[in-house]
Amino acid sequence: MSIVIVVGTQWGDEGKGKLVDVLTEKAGIVARYQGGHNAGHTVVIKNEKYVLHLIPSGILHKKTTSIIGNGVVVEPGALIEEITGLRKRGITVSDNLLLSKNAHLIMPYHLALDGASEKAKGKNCIGTTGRGIGPTYVDKMARTGIRVGDLLAPDSFKEKLASNLKFVNFLMKNLFNSRGFGLARIYDEYMEYARILKKHIADTDIVINKAISAGENVLLEGAQGTLLDIDHGTYPFVTSSNSIAGGACTGLGIGPTKISKVLGVVKAYTTRVGSGPFPTELTDAAGETIRAKGGEFGATTGRPRRCGWLDSVILRHAAMVNGLTGLAITKLDILDGLDKLRICAAYKHKGKKYENFPKDLSVFENCTPVYEEMDGWNSSTLGVREFRQLPLQARKYLKRIEELVGVKAELISTGQKRDELITIREQF
Ligand code: GDP
Ligand code: IMO
Ligand code: MG
Repeated sequence: MSIVIVVGTQWGDEGKGKLVDVLTEKAGIVARYQGGHNAGHTVVIKNEKYVLHLIPSGILHKKTTSIIGNGVVVEPGALIEEITGLRKRGITVSDNLLLSKNAHLIMPYHLALDGASEKAKGKNCIGTTGRGIGPTYVDKMARTGIRVGDLLAPDSFKEKLASNLKFVNFLMKNLFNSRGFGLARIYDEYMEYARILKKHIADTDIVINKAISAGENVLLEGAQGTLLDIDHGTYPFVTSSNSIAGGACTGLGIGPTKISKVLGVVKAYTTRVGSGPFPTELTDAAGETIRAKGGEFGATTGRPRRCGWLDSVILRHAAMVNGLTGLAITKLDILDGLDKLRICAAYKHKGKKYENFPKDLSVFENCTPVYEEMDGWNSSTLGVREFRQLPLQARKYLKRIEELVGVKAELISTGQKRDELITIREQF
């Protein structure tokens, strides 16, 4: 029996969705622990592409229970749309999907506040996905949030909503010069959501802990990535939750003593969506080439992803704060045919060398990467399933990543599809 956390080690979009889908084969439960529908996790099965936002990527396996944990923020309309979309494609979504009573609800005013606050920041905006994520977590921490469980208690839901709207409408009118929200419309809309979602609402902490006690394999799916973590990322250019492995315990109600493994997903190069520093960013044709070949456009917003070389400084940071036990290196095939490859080994700033992730954002913003250059490979790695069948230079590249990060690669992904994978070490 194993409890495995799958976590992003960069700025998100590392290929977590594909790996969670593959690993779910052997898991009884797969659970999301933070974030919301800002995430976009792509799974390709045969030639069918599925993009999951809120529902764990394991939903595509019939026998597995998918859980949306208490640490997730849920826009019920978006969740219902996702459920409906999956059902239309023949995927079973019924009592195999559970939603925590303690997960916080994204309300229409959270979306409006997200947009208004980004607009007010102007050129210093974070480049959020506009899904209301930040303002919902603000209310959670301010203890004014409305939770999924409140959907089942209409009177108390209405009371909380009325109280929040007083404050929200004051802000909207006086600070953001916008129209406020009426209570009746939101109340009716959310009571309709309650009717549809009721059968999925559960005490998910009890469900997961019972499964663990019964010896089931459990997979915990992180959204975003380590550098987007509210505490350990490139603050303030981050998301509003703990995306690192530690978030899995608080976001699901599992004790840290239960966790067996933490698998860090590493894209073979680096991407970032939204604003914020990115030392190894390629703003030239090389970046364009990677973007085009890797299909690096946001799975949620469609924005072009910024692309750059692999950065081992942030990966060492990720290895440390997540306690990574293994790496899953993805999209190796996208680097096929490049003449030379670069890996950032350290940063330089004002004559000082940094081998560890600098906490001072101004250092991170203004540093110069210290690169190691390696030869690329000419043959295709697409769909390769055995490590020894990889071109020599590709093997050298992977080995160098292991050395620089100090964690072994256990899975190598060589394409979008389920079986385009090299398994060096089984997770379950
Ligand atoms: P996530 O947010 O971490 O789940 O990642 P996304 O789904 O946003 O972005 C990863 C993209 O890369 C998706 O389109 C995947 O289908 C794709 N992908 C994942 N692994 C591989 C791989 O090894 N090779 C290629 N070519 N594509 C991959
Ligand atoms: P997955 O799970 C990449 C980024 C946004 C923005 C910042 C804050 O698919 O890897 P938010 O809307 O969360 O307040 O935006 O975080 N961001 C992501 N970038 N992948 C994601 O998810 C992301 N989720 C949020 O672009 O820079
Ligand atoms: Mg994504």
